Amino acid sequence: MNLIINSSDAIGDANGTIRIALTQKNLADSPGVMDTFGSIIAPGAYVRLEVADSGCGMEEETRNRIFEPFFTTKFTGRGLGMSAIRGIVTSHDARLQCSSTPGVGTMFTISFPVPDPLEEIVMAPEQVMSYQQTGGTVLLVDDEEILRSMGESLLEALGFSAIVAQHGAEALELYRSHGSEIDIVLLDLIMPVMGGIETYHELRRVAPLLPIIICSGYDEVSLEEAIIDDPCAGFVHKPYNPKELQSLIIRMMRDCGTPTSGIR
Ligand SMILES: Nc1ncnc2c1ncn2[C@@H]1O[C@H](COP(=O)(O)OP(=O)(O)OP(=O)(O)O)[C@@H](O)[C@H]1O
Ligand SMILES: [Mg+2]
Repeated sequence: MNLIINSSDAIGDANGTIRIALTQKNLADSPGVMDTFGSIIAPGAYVRLEVADSGCGMEEETRNRIFEPFFTTKFTGRGLGMSAIRGIVTSHDARLQCSSTPGVGTMFTISFPVPDPLEEIVMAPEQVMSYQQTGGTVLLVDDEEILRSMGESLLEALGFSAIVAQHGAEALELYRSHGSEIDIVLLDLIMPVMGGIETYHELRRVAPLLPIIICSGYDEVSLEEAIIDDPCAGFVHKPYNPKELQSLIIRMMRDCGTPTSGIR
């Protein structure tokens, strides 16, 4: 979003083009190729996000400073968009490249390394319990479609059945109609219609012992004491670490005594 807003700002009131592309690319070994931050771009599989615009472009002087916090050339700019991008890129161990020509435009390419799916999701047998050892149905509540479908696949790969809802109100409705099939709830915090906290309280009214895991993409989440003290409530960060998510789900289902927990 920060890249696209910057592209839109660079085009200003004139007509222009912003091209956004997502591609898969296998980079061959090209020794010494570095990204903007001086990190080597290792050979391997990447998903590449490109945002290119036909805006004002940047002089080298500007281009060298765009990642400095608070550096801005805009009247109302805060100079924080590119710093945030740097943080996101680093946290994904991705590589960012930028090319820009004054009067012509700018292109940012971010290459996200693709983890080996077998290593990341299925993992070593001793690290992950088999399907037979897990089992159970997870109600996954998230407003983002992509996170619902990825979460569903991940949960299934970890040995659970998943049903999904796009907000709290839908989750409550599903719980009312299918409560006896739901062993645990994975609940996003920020959602339209009915957010995570309200959904938590509504679910608690009907199911005092139902395991509920609250998840959020934000680092600092201050949860109410009632939730922190609730032995049947847990918390995970998004994006999920598959192994941690799996053991938390298993632990909570065990400790909260499903499938007989809750008033259904
Ligand atoms: N696509 C682009 N085309 C031209 N200049 C750009 C582009 N992207 C970034 N810049 C330059 O980098 C500077 C820093 O960008 P950054 O997104 O960090 O801050 P900002 O856009 O000025 O303010 P904000 O914090 O609101 O995003 C911009 O002020 C602009 O000079
Ligand atoms: Mg910006």
